[in-house]
Amino acid sequence: MAERTLMMIKPDAVAQNVIGEIIKQVESKGFKVVEIQMMRLTRAQAAAFYAVHREQPFYNGLLDFMTSGPAVPVVLEREDAVRILREVVGTTNPAEAAEKTIRKAFGSNVRENAVHASDSPENGAVETAFFFGES
Ligand code: RTP
Ligand code: MG
Repeated sequence: MAERTLMMIKPDAVAQNVIGEIIKQVESKGFKVVEIQMMRLTRAQAAAFYAVHREQPFYNGLLDFMTSGPAVPVVLEREDAVRILREVVGTTNPAEAAEKTIRKAFGSNVRENAVHASDSPENGAVETAFFFGES
């Protein structure tokens, strides 16, 4: 059954002019783009989106990064979307990411890692609603 997940192209990838390349890679893996927008997150939005990490030492740096320029939230659909997108994206640290993953190709370091991907179907639904409302 088709499932939806939320990918966000982060400010580092937008600055590298690889929005199209990243969309092309996920489309080539069978994902359909069903919603997309370009926006600069406010600090409050970034804080809410990553609230699960608020006690982490990297939280403030993460918010600085995520508000440093425009980002592109994208809703993607395919069978088993959440699990497959996490595979296509690769590990959090690009240096450890598998060959041919998006983070291997475009990530710079553990913070500036090119894209976000929802980590569960439940969070996929919450994060989709965060940017695009209930559909
Ligand atoms: P994401 O939520 O963005 O898809 O990334 P993820 O699941 O692979 O990693 P997560 O643990 O949820 O971390 C969220 C984002 O915080 C930044 N981060 N910085 N040690 C650090 O400086 C550090 N660790 C994580 C990254 O931007 C990471 O994607
Ligand atoms: Mg995460």
